[in-house]
Amino acid sequence: MERVVVTKGPEETVRLGEELAGELREGDVVALVGELGTGKTTLVKGIAQGLFVREAVISPSFILARTYQGRVPLHHLDAYRVTDPEELREVGLTELLPPEEGITVVEWADRIAELIPPGSLWVELEHLEGDRRRITLRR
Ligand SMILES: Nc1ncnc2c1ncn2[C@@H]1O[C@H](COP(=O)(O)OP(=O)(O)OP(=O)(O)O)[C@@H](O)[C@H]1O
Ligand SMILES: [Mg+2]
Repeated sequence: MERVVVTKGPEETVRLGEELAGELREGDVVALVGELGTGKTTLVKGIAQGLFVREAVISPSFILARTYQGRVPLHHLDAYRVTDPEELREVGLTELLPPEEGITVVEWADRIAELIPPGSLWVELEHLEGDRRRITLRR
């Protein structure tokens, strides 16, 4: 299945994430792909809201991964600084791909594509003019 959504600002991207959260099940992996500033973390904020996470979602870039408690655990990975997928294996993060409990969302998933399990939800974000973003969802 493929779905294409154009959002006109960050609020709409957050809302899309909230909606998506309602469709996610434990063990799911959401793989986010898109250039700097396309809205990957913004979408994760929406997913977190939809999962009733109360903590603020911040970019996990420097620590690779954070887990938030919500309706189910939300694991937020950022592969931006990963140069070799082996790095994730060494620190045990491949256990979250897929997670035994909760949902895993990965920013810059294309950088560790070989570690993303089959059947994951791939979400590609692209800049359009101004605050518009084209968001393509493929399962
Ligand atoms: N339609 C939109 N959807 C999402 N963010 C938008 C949109 N329009 C403008 N923005 C702005 O673009 C920025 C997106 O930042 P965000 O951190 O979500 O991107 P990112 O893809 O995670 O970047 P990075 O690659 O640095 O992790 C925010 O400042 C947000 O307010
Ligand atoms: Mg980000």
